[in-house]
Amino acid sequence: MGTYAVTGSASGMGAAVVDRLRSDGHTVLTVDIKDADVVADLSTPTGRGAAAREVLERCEGRLDGAVLAAGIGPAPGADRPQLILEVNFLGVVDLLEAWRPALAAAGNAKVVVFSSNSTTTVPLIARATTDAIIDRDMEKALRRIRLLGAKMAPSFAYGASKIAVSHWVRRHAVTREWAGAGIRLNAIAPGAILTPLLQQQLATPAEAKRIKAFPVPIGGFGDPDHLARWVTFMLSDAADFLCGSIIFVDGGSDAWFRASDW
Ligand code: NAI
Repeated sequence: MGTYAVTGSASGMGAAVVDRLRSDGHTVLTVDIKDADVVADLSTPTGRGAAAREVLERCEGRLDGAVLAAGIGPAPGADRPQLILEVNFLGVVDLLEAWRPALAAAGNAKVVVFSSNSTTTVPLIARATTDAIIDRDMEKALRRIRLLGAKMAPSFAYGASKIAVSHWVRRHAVTREWAGAGIRLNAIAPGAILTPLLQQQLATPAEAKRIKAFPVPIGGFGDPDHLARWVTFMLSDAADFLCGSIIFVDGGSDAWFRASDW
């Protein structure tokens, strides 16, 4: 049985992953802004530093895996774009950089990062914007996002945060520090999954209309526990040969938008 760190553990898909791992007999260290072993605000450098340290102390320097599910959606608000970049990008990469030695200590660790199919379905996000996020030049990234219009800025920030984190995963997955240390670094890219994050968006009539009009060939919304099963599979021995992959589980939207683009 292994020891796993899971962020975003208090709700939705993160909570479903925790339930599955615990019922399989694993030890899980949960991280969230509420109701977790490690309560920390991943939108601040202090919170991220505390979360990284506390998990390292509790796992005694060895992690068999990590699931980075903490994230916030594109709700309205002038501060929201910055918050999205902090939680959805830095809340993933700052923790993973700190936890890398503990993951390497396991010899065969697996990491699953929550991306999104908004990476391939939200238009107009320039490479310069996502590169600025990866370079941690958030001012530049936010300036570019706001050029696309204040009203849509949270949606563009959300898409940009998920593209940046996916590029980060693919760039690092194949390096000596990650693959070379036996760490399988992969991401899952869900479509619309019925969790509190999606329910918050559905509560706004204009957003609900947009979400319901979005092409989902298989129809309906995804189930958080089904996504948790994909994640636990990606943490299992069956995923030993999976490295730097972004797994889309989205009812067919990515295929609909990009049938020939692979
Ligand atoms: P959720 O809202 O049910 O859960 C997110 C968790 O992250 C919550 O427990 C929340 O407290 C935590 N969190 C938020 N801000 C935090 C902060 N500053 N510090 C610490 N923890 C914080 O969301 P859901 O749907 O389970 O999302 C999980 C991941 O999947 C997110 O990264 C989301 O972007 C991604 N995703 C979700 C989709 C959906 O349709 N639900 C679609 C595609 C991706």
